[in-house]
Amino acid sequence: MSEGLNLLRIQSPCFVLNEQEFKQGVHEFDAALSHHFLHHIISYSVKTNSLPYAVAKAKDFGCFAEVVSDDELELALACGYGMKEIIFNGPMKSKSRFLEAVMNGAVVNVETHREIAWLKELPADGHYKVGIRLSVNISDISPEDAEGENDFSRFGFNDVTEEFSNALEAIRSIPQVRLAGLHIHRTSHSRSVRFYQNIVAYAASVIKKYQLELDYLDVGGGYYGIFHNAPTFDEYAEAIYESLQKQGLEKLTIIVEPGNALTAAAFSYYSRVIDTKHLPDCILLTTDGSRNDVDPFFRKERYMTEIHREKEEAEVVPLQIVAGATCLEYDQLFRLENQPELCVGDMIEYKNVGAYTLTLTPMFINYFPRVYSLSSDGMKLIRDKWTAKEYMQKSNI
Ligand SMILES: Cc1ncc(COP(=O)(O)O)c(C=O)c1O
Repeated sequence: MSEGLNLLRIQSPCFVLNEQEFKQGVHEFDAALSHHFLHHIISYSVKTNSLPYAVAKAKDFGCFAEVVSDDELELALACGYGMKEIIFNGPMKSKSRFLEAVMNGAVVNVETHREIAWLKELPADGHYKVGIRLSVNISDISPEDAEGENDFSRFGFNDVTEEFSNALEAIRSIPQVRLAGLHIHRTSHSRSVRFYQNIVAYAASVIKKYQLELDYLDVGGGYYGIFHNAPTFDEYAEAIYESLQKQGLEKLTIIVEPGNALTAAAFSYYSRVIDTKHLPDCILLTTDGSRNDVDPFFRKERYMTEIHREKEEAEVVPLQIVAGATCLEYDQLFRLENQPELCVGDMIEYKNVGAYTLTLTPMFINYFPRVYSLSSDGMKLIRDKWTAKEYMQKSNI
Protein backbone atom coordinates (compact mmCIF):
# COMPACT_ATOMS: atom_id res chain seq x y z
CA MET A 1 0.00 0.00 0.00
CA SER A 2 1.11 3.56 -0.67
CA GLU A 3 2.53 4.80 2.59
CA GLY A 4 0.47 7.52 4.21
CA LEU A 5 -2.77 6.46 2.57
CA ASN A 6 -5.71 6.46 4.95
CA LEU A 7 -7.98 3.72 3.66
CA LEU A 8 -10.84 4.92 5.80
CA ARG A 9 -10.80 8.27 4.05
CA ILE A 10 -10.92 7.09 0.46
CA GLN A 11 -14.24 6.41 -1.20
CA SER A 12 -14.05 3.28 -3.29
CA PRO A 13 -13.83 2.42 -6.08
CA CYS A 14 -10.96 4.75 -6.86
CA PHE A 15 -7.51 5.11 -8.28
CA VAL A 16 -4.65 6.54 -6.21
CA LEU A 17 -1.68 8.26 -7.86
CA ASN A 18 1.56 8.04 -5.95
CA GLU A 19 3.25 11.28 -7.02
CA GLN A 20 6.66 10.35 -5.69
CA GLU A 21 6.70 7.17 -7.77
CA PHE A 22 5.64 9.12 -10.88
CA LYS A 23 8.33 11.76 -10.33
CA GLN A 24 11.02 9.19 -9.66
CA GLY A 25 10.33 7.51 -13.01
CA VAL A 26 10.81 10.78 -14.90
CA HIS A 27 13.92 11.67 -12.92
CA GLU A 28 15.55 8.27 -13.42
CA PHE A 29 14.88 8.30 -17.16
CA ASP A 30 16.18 11.86 -17.34
CA ALA A 31 19.37 10.94 -15.48
CA ALA A 32 19.96 7.94 -17.75
CA LEU A 33 19.56 9.98 -20.94
CA SER A 34 21.68 12.88 -19.60
CA HIS A 35 24.43 10.38 -18.92
CA HIS A 36 24.67 9.46 -22.62
CA PHE A 37 23.26 12.28 -24.74
CA LEU A 38 23.97 15.99 -25.12
CA HIS A 39 20.30 16.74 -25.69
CA HIS A 40 17.19 14.74 -24.97
CA ILE A 41 13.47 15.18 -24.47
CA ILE A 42 11.16 13.02 -22.37
CA SER A 43 7.70 13.35 -23.82
CA TYR A 44 4.86 12.00 -21.69
CA SER A 45 2.60 9.72 -23.73
CA VAL A 46 -0.79 11.30 -23.07
CA LYS A 47 -2.75 8.35 -24.48
CA THR A 48 -1.31 6.07 -21.82
CA ASN A 49 -2.87 8.06 -19.01
CA SER A 50 -4.60 11.31 -19.88
CA LEU A 51 -5.83 12.14 -16.41
CA PRO A 52 -5.45 15.96 -16.49
CA TYR A 53 -3.65 16.04 -13.13
CA ALA A 54 -1.07 13.50 -14.37
CA VAL A 55 -0.62 15.33 -17.68
CA ALA A 56 0.02 18.60 -15.77
CA LYS A 57 2.34 16.90 -13.26
CA ALA A 58 4.44 15.43 -16.09
CA LYS A 59 5.02 19.00 -17.28
CA ASP A 60 6.02 20.05 -13.74
CA PHE A 61 8.53 17.19 -13.76
CA GLY A 62 10.06 18.54 -17.01
CA CYS A 63 8.34 16.44 -19.67
CA PHE A 64 6.94 17.44 -23.05
CA ALA A 65 3.53 15.99 -24.02
CA GLU A 66 3.28 13.41 -26.80
CA VAL A 67 -0.17 13.64 -28.39
CA VAL A 68 -1.85 11.79 -31.25
CA SER A 69 -5.10 13.64 -31.83
CA ASP A 70 -6.51 17.14 -31.84
CA ASP A 71 -8.33 16.32 -28.60
CA GLU A 72 -5.12 15.24 -26.87
CA LEU A 73 -3.35 18.32 -28.20
CA GLU A 74 -6.08 20.56 -26.77
CA LEU A 75 -5.90 18.69 -23.47
CA ALA A 76 -2.12 19.17 -23.25
CA LEU A 77 -2.43 22.89 -24.04
CA ALA A 78 -5.19 23.18 -21.41
CA CYS A 79 -2.89 21.44 -18.90
CA GLY A 80 -0.27 24.16 -19.37
CA TYR A 81 2.05 22.94 -22.15
CA GLY A 82 3.18 25.46 -24.76
CA MET A 83 3.16 24.42 -28.43
CA LYS A 84 6.97 24.12 -28.27
CA GLU A 85 6.56 21.42 -25.60
CA ILE A 86 4.36 19.21 -27.78
CA ILE A 87 5.29 16.16 -29.86
CA PHE A 88 2.44 15.70 -32.35
CA ASN A 89 2.20 12.18 -33.81
CA GLY A 90 -0.31 9.89 -35.45
CA PRO A 91 -2.40 9.80 -38.61
CA MET A 92 -5.40 11.64 -37.16
CA LYS A 93 -4.20 15.24 -37.01
CA SER A 94 -6.63 17.72 -38.54
CA LYS A 95 -5.23 20.04 -41.19
CA SER A 96 -5.71 23.17 -39.12
CA ARG A 97 -4.11 21.73 -35.97
CA PHE A 98 -1.30 20.16 -38.01
CA LEU A 99 -0.37 23.46 -39.68
CA GLU A 100 -0.77 25.41 -36.45
CA ALA A 101 1.56 22.98 -34.66
CA VAL A 102 4.19 23.12 -37.42
CA MET A 103 4.05 26.92 -37.56
CA ASN A 104 4.31 27.30 -33.80
CA GLY A 105 7.31 25.07 -33.24
CA ALA A 106 5.83 21.77 -32.03
CA VAL A 107 7.76 18.64 -32.94
CA VAL A 108 5.46 17.23 -35.61
CA ASN A 109 6.11 13.79 -37.04
CA VAL A 110 4.44 13.35 -40.42
CA GLU A 111 2.51 10.12 -40.74
CA THR A 112 0.25 10.43 -43.80
CA HIS A 113 0.36 11.57 -47.44
CA ARG A 114 -2.22 14.21 -46.75
CA GLU A 115 0.04 15.88 -44.20
CA ILE A 116 2.77 16.15 -46.84
CA ALA A 117 0.26 17.81 -49.16
CA TRP A 118 -0.74 20.24 -46.38
CA LEU A 119 2.91 21.26 -45.89
CA LYS A 120 2.81 22.87 -49.33
CA GLU A 121 0.33 25.38 -47.94
CA LEU A 122 2.75 26.78 -45.35
CA PRO A 123 3.71 30.42 -45.97
CA ALA A 124 6.41 30.42 -48.65
CA ASP A 125 8.55 32.97 -46.82
CA GLY A 126 8.83 30.89 -43.62
CA HIS A 127 11.19 28.12 -42.49
CA TYR A 128 9.60 25.06 -40.92
CA LYS A 129 10.78 21.72 -39.59
CA VAL A 130 9.01 18.36 -39.50
CA GLY A 131 9.89 14.79 -38.67
CA ILE A 132 8.73 11.66 -40.46
CA ARG A 133 7.66 8.33 -39.05
CA LEU A 134 9.38 5.26 -40.41
CA SER A 135 7.36 2.05 -40.47
CA VAL A 136 9.08 -0.77 -38.58
CA ASN A 137 8.46 -4.50 -39.02
CA ILE A 138 9.71 -6.08 -35.78
CA SER A 139 9.99 -9.52 -37.43
CA ASP A 140 12.54 -8.05 -39.85
CA ILE A 141 14.64 -5.97 -37.49
CA SER A 142 14.45 -7.90 -34.21
CA PRO A 143 12.82 -11.32 -34.78
CA GLU A 144 13.24 -12.45 -31.16
CA ASP A 145 11.03 -9.57 -30.06
CA ALA A 146 8.37 -10.05 -32.72
CA GLU A 147 4.87 -11.38 -32.42
CA GLY A 148 4.78 -13.87 -35.27
CA GLU A 149 6.54 -13.81 -38.60
CA ASN A 150 5.17 -10.57 -39.90
CA ASP A 151 4.95 -8.11 -37.04
CA PHE A 152 4.44 -5.11 -39.32
CA SER A 153 3.14 -1.70 -38.37
CA ARG A 154 0.26 0.18 -39.87
CA PHE A 155 1.99 3.42 -38.92
CA GLY A 156 4.70 5.39 -40.65
CA PHE A 157 6.11 5.14 -44.17
CA ASN A 158 7.56 1.84 -45.30
CA ASP A 159 11.10 1.64 -46.64
CA VAL A 160 10.71 -1.86 -48.09
CA THR A 161 8.24 -0.43 -50.58
CA GLU A 162 8.86 3.02 -52.03
CA GLU A 163 6.60 4.81 -49.56
CA PHE A 164 9.43 6.19 -47.45
CA SER A 165 11.69 7.35 -50.28
CA ASN A 166 8.74 8.93 -52.09
CA ALA A 167 7.68 10.72 -48.91
CA LEU A 168 11.23 12.01 -48.43
CA GLU A 169 11.32 13.29 -51.97
CA ALA A 170 7.95 14.98 -51.57
CA ILE A 171 9.08 16.73 -48.38
CA ARG A 172 12.41 17.73 -49.93
CA SER A 173 10.55 19.36 -52.81
CA ILE A 174 8.87 21.86 -50.45
CA PRO A 175 11.37 24.74 -50.15
CA GLN A 176 10.12 26.18 -46.86
CA VAL A 177 10.23 22.80 -45.08
CA ARG A 178 13.25 20.95 -43.69
CA LEU A 179 13.18 17.32 -42.58
CA ALA A 180 14.57 17.49 -39.04
CA GLY A 181 13.69 14.19 -37.42
CA LEU A 182 12.89 10.52 -37.66
CA HIS A 183 10.26 8.78 -35.52
CA ILE A 184 10.36 5.02 -35.01
CA HIS A 185 7.95 4.06 -32.21
CA ARG A 186 7.01 0.40 -31.71
CA THR A 187 6.07 -1.25 -28.42
CA SER A 188 7.60 -4.72 -28.56
CA HIS A 189 6.13 -7.52 -26.54
CA SER A 190 9.40 -8.12 -24.71
CA ARG A 191 10.25 -4.44 -24.05
CA SER A 192 13.84 -5.76 -24.20
CA VAL A 193 17.03 -3.72 -24.42
CA ARG A 194 17.97 -5.79 -27.48
CA PHE A 195 14.88 -4.47 -29.26
CA TYR A 196 16.04 -0.86 -28.80
CA GLN A 197 19.51 -1.77 -29.98
CA ASN A 198 18.00 -3.25 -33.14
CA ILE A 199 15.34 -0.65 -33.89
CA VAL A 200 17.80 2.23 -33.44
CA ALA A 201 20.36 0.41 -35.60
CA TYR A 202 17.66 0.14 -38.26
CA ALA A 203 16.83 3.85 -37.94
CA ALA A 204 20.55 4.70 -38.16
CA SER A 205 20.91 2.62 -41.33
CA VAL A 206 17.98 4.46 -42.93
CA ILE A 207 19.44 7.83 -41.91
CA LYS A 208 22.71 6.85 -43.57
CA LYS A 209 21.06 5.33 -46.63
CA TYR A 210 19.31 8.61 -47.45
CA GLN A 211 22.06 10.86 -45.99
CA LEU A 212 19.52 12.58 -43.80
CA GLU A 213 20.78 15.61 -41.86
CA LEU A 214 18.60 15.43 -38.80
CA ASP A 215 18.26 17.19 -35.46
CA TYR A 216 16.52 14.38 -33.62
CA LEU A 217 15.67 10.71 -33.46
CA ASP A 218 12.36 10.01 -31.72
CA VAL A 219 12.62 6.47 -30.36
CA GLY A 220 9.01 6.44 -29.07
CA GLY A 221 7.80 4.52 -26.02
CA GLY A 222 7.53 0.89 -24.99
CA TYR A 223 9.90 0.70 -22.01
CA TYR A 224 9.54 -1.10 -18.71
CA GLY A 225 9.22 1.07 -15.64
CA ILE A 226 11.28 0.74 -12.50
CA PHE A 227 10.77 -2.94 -11.64
CA HIS A 228 13.03 -5.62 -10.24
CA ASN A 229 14.31 -7.94 -12.96
CA ALA A 230 13.38 -5.48 -15.72
CA PRO A 231 15.84 -3.48 -17.84
CA THR A 232 16.84 -0.16 -16.31
CA PHE A 233 16.47 3.20 -18.02
CA ASP A 234 20.25 3.34 -18.10
CA GLU A 235 20.41 0.07 -20.06
CA TYR A 236 17.90 1.38 -22.59
CA ALA A 237 19.80 4.68 -22.96
CA GLU A 238 23.12 2.87 -23.38
CA ALA A 239 21.68 0.57 -26.07
CA ILE A 240 20.27 3.53 -28.00
CA TYR A 241 23.57 5.39 -27.67
CA GLU A 242 25.69 2.45 -28.84
CA SER A 243 23.59 1.83 -31.93
CA LEU A 244 23.83 5.49 -32.89
CA GLN A 245 27.52 5.75 -32.11
CA LYS A 246 28.31 2.93 -34.53
CA GLN A 247 27.05 5.19 -37.31
CA GLY A 248 28.47 8.42 -35.87
CA LEU A 249 24.98 9.66 -35.00
CA GLU A 250 25.30 9.90 -31.23
CA LYS A 251 24.99 13.72 -31.25
CA LEU A 252 21.36 13.58 -32.35
CA THR A 253 18.82 14.85 -29.83
CA ILE A 254 17.04 11.80 -28.48
CA ILE A 255 13.30 11.94 -27.87
CA VAL A 256 11.59 9.23 -25.85
CA GLU A 257 7.82 8.93 -25.39
CA PRO A 258 7.30 6.74 -22.32
CA GLY A 259 3.81 5.99 -21.14
CA ASN A 260 3.71 2.64 -19.40
CA ALA A 261 7.16 3.15 -17.86
CA LEU A 262 6.06 6.28 -16.02
CA THR A 263 2.45 5.54 -15.16
CA ALA A 264 1.94 1.82 -14.57
CA ALA A 265 3.51 1.60 -11.13
CA ALA A 266 2.40 5.06 -10.07
CA PHE A 267 -1.30 4.14 -9.85
CA SER A 268 -3.17 1.65 -7.67
CA TYR A 269 -6.89 0.91 -7.69
CA TYR A 270 -8.98 0.21 -4.62
CA SER A 271 -12.32 -1.56 -4.38
CA ARG A 272 -14.26 -2.82 -1.39
CA VAL A 273 -16.19 -6.02 -0.79
CA ILE A 274 -19.86 -5.02 -0.64
CA ASP A 275 -21.47 -8.47 -0.41
CA THR A 276 -20.59 -12.14 0.02
CA LYS A 277 -22.66 -15.08 -1.23
CA HIS A 278 -22.27 -18.81 -0.72
CA LEU A 279 -22.40 -20.96 -3.87
CA PRO A 280 -22.03 -24.76 -3.82
CA ASP A 281 -18.31 -24.64 -4.66
CA CYS A 282 -17.18 -21.20 -3.66
CA ILE A 283 -17.85 -17.93 -1.93
CA LEU A 284 -18.59 -15.10 -4.30
CA LEU A 285 -17.33 -11.68 -3.25
CA THR A 286 -19.03 -8.76 -4.97
CA THR A 287 -16.85 -5.65 -4.96
CA ASP A 288 -17.69 -2.06 -5.80
CA GLY A 289 -14.92 -1.79 -8.44
CA SER A 290 -14.96 -3.38 -11.87
CA ARG A 291 -12.62 -5.24 -14.14
CA ASN A 292 -13.50 -2.54 -16.66
CA ASP A 293 -11.39 -0.12 -14.61
CA VAL A 294 -8.23 -2.21 -14.29
CA ASP A 295 -8.39 -4.41 -17.36
CA PRO A 296 -10.55 -2.69 -19.98
CA PHE A 297 -9.68 -5.33 -22.62
CA PHE A 298 -10.43 -8.23 -20.20
CA ARG A 299 -7.11 -9.83 -21.15
CA LYS A 300 -5.11 -9.81 -17.94
CA GLU A 301 -4.51 -13.18 -16.39
CA ARG A 302 -3.07 -11.94 -13.14
CA TYR A 303 -3.24 -8.90 -10.94
CA MET A 304 -0.81 -7.69 -8.32
CA THR A 305 -3.08 -7.38 -5.33
CA GLU A 306 -2.94 -6.71 -1.63
CA ILE A 307 -5.88 -7.31 0.65
CA HIS A 308 -6.56 -4.95 3.53
CA ARG A 309 -8.80 -6.72 6.02
CA GLU A 310 -11.01 -5.13 8.62
CA LYS A 311 -10.88 -8.25 10.87
CA GLU A 312 -7.54 -9.82 11.65
CA GLU A 313 -8.86 -13.33 12.27
CA ALA A 314 -10.92 -15.23 9.69
CA GLU A 315 -11.54 -18.84 8.81
CA VAL A 316 -9.61 -20.23 5.84
CA VAL A 317 -11.99 -21.22 3.01
CA PRO A 318 -11.21 -23.29 -0.11
CA LEU A 319 -12.30 -20.89 -2.85
CA GLN A 320 -13.39 -17.25 -3.10
CA ILE A 321 -14.09 -15.49 -6.39
CA VAL A 322 -13.69 -11.74 -6.51
CA ALA A 323 -16.30 -10.23 -8.84
CA GLY A 324 -16.88 -6.70 -10.06
CA ALA A 325 -19.64 -4.13 -9.89
CA THR A 326 -21.17 -4.50 -13.34
CA CYS A 327 -23.92 -6.88 -14.47
CA LEU A 328 -21.52 -8.77 -16.73
CA GLU A 329 -21.20 -12.39 -15.65
CA TYR A 330 -17.57 -12.27 -16.71
CA ASP A 331 -16.74 -9.21 -14.63
CA GLN A 332 -14.70 -11.52 -12.39
CA LEU A 333 -11.19 -10.51 -11.37
CA PHE A 334 -9.39 -13.25 -9.53
CA ARG A 335 -9.71 -16.31 -7.32
CA LEU A 336 -8.44 -16.82 -3.82
CA GLU A 337 -7.69 -20.41 -2.90
CA ASN A 338 -7.33 -21.55 0.71
CA GLN A 339 -7.27 -18.01 2.05
CA PRO A 340 -8.97 -16.43 5.07
CA GLU A 341 -12.54 -15.47 4.21
CA LEU A 342 -13.05 -11.85 3.21
CA CYS A 343 -15.81 -9.77 4.78
CA VAL A 344 -17.95 -6.87 3.66
CA GLY A 345 -15.78 -3.74 4.01
CA ASP A 346 -12.45 -5.43 3.24
CA MET A 347 -10.45 -3.49 0.67
CA ILE A 348 -8.63 -4.94 -2.34
CA GLU A 349 -5.73 -2.97 -3.76
CA TYR A 350 -4.70 -3.61 -7.38
CA LYS A 351 -1.15 -2.37 -8.01
CA ASN A 352 0.57 -1.17 -11.21
CA VAL A 353 -2.63 -0.23 -13.00
CA GLY A 354 -1.83 3.27 -14.28
CA ALA A 355 -1.17 2.46 -17.95
CA TYR A 356 -4.02 2.20 -20.48
CA THR A 357 -6.69 1.93 -17.80
CA LEU A 358 -8.04 5.40 -17.00
CA THR A 359 -7.95 6.27 -20.71
CA LEU A 360 -9.75 3.10 -21.79
CA THR A 361 -12.34 2.61 -19.06
CA PRO A 362 -15.76 2.53 -20.65
CA MET A 363 -18.69 4.50 -19.26
CA PHE A 364 -20.52 1.23 -18.67
CA ILE A 365 -23.11 1.19 -15.89
CA ASN A 366 -20.89 3.13 -13.49
CA TYR A 367 -19.24 6.32 -14.70
CA PHE A 368 -15.60 7.27 -14.12
CA PRO A 369 -14.38 6.54 -10.57
CA ARG A 370 -12.68 8.98 -8.21
CA VAL A 371 -8.93 9.52 -8.35
CA TYR A 372 -6.86 10.63 -5.36
CA SER A 373 -3.25 11.67 -5.30
CA LEU A 374 -0.81 10.99 -2.54
CA SER A 375 2.22 13.22 -2.07
CA SER A 376 4.31 14.63 0.76
CA ASP A 377 1.44 17.15 1.22
CA GLY A 378 -0.94 14.27 1.99
CA MET A 379 -3.88 12.90 0.09
CA LYS A 380 -6.20 14.91 -2.14
CA LEU A 381 -9.05 14.26 -4.54
CA ILE A 382 -7.82 15.02 -8.07
CA ARG A 383 -10.88 13.82 -9.97
CA ASP A 384 -14.29 13.43 -8.43
CA LYS A 385 -16.56 10.61 -9.49
CA TRP A 386 -18.37 11.29 -12.74
CA THR A 387 -22.14 11.18 -12.34
CA ALA A 388 -25.12 11.43 -14.68
CA LYS A 389 -24.43 15.18 -14.73
CA GLU A 390 -21.03 14.78 -16.42
CA TYR A 391 -22.37 11.99 -18.62
CA MET A 392 -25.13 14.24 -19.91
CA GLN A 393 -22.82 17.12 -20.84
CA LYS A 394 -23.53 18.27 -24.39
CA SER A 395 -26.55 15.95 -24.69
CA ASN A 396 -29.88 17.29 -25.88
CA ILE A 397 -32.96 15.65 -24.41
C1 LIG B 1 3.60 6.91 -30.81
C2 LIG B 1 3.59 6.33 -29.44
N1 LIG B 1 4.46 6.80 -28.53
C3 LIG B 1 4.49 6.32 -27.26
C4 LIG B 1 3.62 5.33 -26.85
C5 LIG B 1 3.69 4.85 -25.43
O1 LIG B 1 3.99 3.51 -25.34
P1 LIG B 1 4.24 2.81 -23.90
O2 LIG B 1 3.05 3.14 -23.05
O3 LIG B 1 4.36 1.36 -24.21
O4 LIG B 1 5.50 3.42 -23.36
C6 LIG B 1 2.69 4.81 -27.78
C7 LIG B 1 1.75 3.74 -27.39
O5 LIG B 1 1.03 3.17 -28.14
C8 LIG B 1 2.67 5.33 -29.10
O6 LIG B 1 1.80 4.88 -30.01
